[in-house]
Amino acid sequence: MSNAQRSFHVAVVGATGAVGETMLSILAERDFPVGTLSVLASERSAGGEIEFNGQKVTVQDLATFDPAGVEIALFSAGGSVSKEYAPKFAAAGAVVIDNSSTFRYDADVPLVVSEVNPHAAKNRPRGIIANPNCSTMQLMPVLAPIHREYGIERINVATYQSVSGAGRSGLEELGRQTAQLLAFQDIEPKKFQAQIAFNLIPHIDEFLANGYTKEEMKLVWETRKILEDDSIQVNPTAVRVPVFYGHSESVNIETERKLSAKEARAILAQAPGVQVYDNPSEKMYPLAVDAAGEDATYVGRIREDDTIPNGLNMWIVADNIRKGAALNAVQIAEELVRRDLLGVKDRTVFIKK
Ligand code: A2P
Repeated sequence: MSNAQRSFHVAVVGATGAVGETMLSILAERDFPVGTLSVLASERSAGGEIEFNGQKVTVQDLATFDPAGVEIALFSAGGSVSKEYAPKFAAAGAVVIDNSSTFRYDADVPLVVSEVNPHAAKNRPRGIIANPNCSTMQLMPVLAPIHREYGIERINVATYQSVSGAGRSGLEELGRQTAQLLAFQDIEPKKFQAQIAFNLIPHIDEFLANGYTKEEMKLVWETRKILEDDSIQVNPTAVRVPVFYGHSESVNIETERKLSAKEARAILAQAPGVQVYDNPSEKMYPLAVDAAGEDATYVGRIREDDTIPNGLNMWIVADNIRKGAALNAVQIAEELVRRDLLGVKDRTVFIKK
């Protein structure tokens, strides 16, 4: 039976988290052919119940779960969990789609954005496919078609990243601090390095020797890997902002050939997964609060950069939990099913080559 005609044993690892629970709702919304569903989290949540498609499913402890029989495993439980358990699931025959940064930069692990490089999902000698970081993810459907036609040489990007990117505890911290400050109480930062309510923090993930943060370097490494072009220069600044859902990005690109704002709009109007939302005279530009809960990546404020010959500015917004993480993981799984790319046989063929 071809993949298209059957259903699958799907495991969601980190099912009680912000991304995990969205993975489950997206699987249900998109009618993914789930035969058996295993929902996994830490010992803390084991025994609890989660609703999927109107049915209650019991959360199991990842540490004692036997992955035999799992065909697709969606991981979003943090880097250390992926490092330990993703190879075990892959060894048991599952295709792992991993949302952590653990494997993203390994040459034998494809890094896939469903609209941009789905072909890469086929070559996965370790049985693991990586999902890009949320901030890279939303850039790619916009930049890939421009790069194909006009050749992007340099990207300057400042990100405005919502607290949900830091998981459930990030959401809780913004809510708690906002309430405390409005009640004139003292706050104590726990999840974030500094006060996040009514503030911006130019620090996500650790600082590296070159002065950039790891979150910023993810944009450099991942853009080059996904666009398959190591010559692209990327200069990022990543900022955490007091927004619950939705990352916004101020993006300036320099292209080999002159790209007018009009031509850019025409290219982006055809780009899969992208919605041009750009009419400043009508106050029409993408906003995080509008993108939250939506699947598309929105682009607006498209305008030529007056200061250099081949520069273009854009404002790009997407729901970081959906397109930035859970949706892309499910879209990769759909691609594997559609193209009959599931199963151990693909990996063995690749290894033999
Ligand atoms: P749990 O709820 O049991 O802690 P978020 O990114 O929103 O904080 O979510 C993290 C997810 O990863 C949760 O589902 C969490 O489960 C899960 N998780 C964290 N640590 C582990 C672990 N050691 N083993 C399994 N799941 C884990």
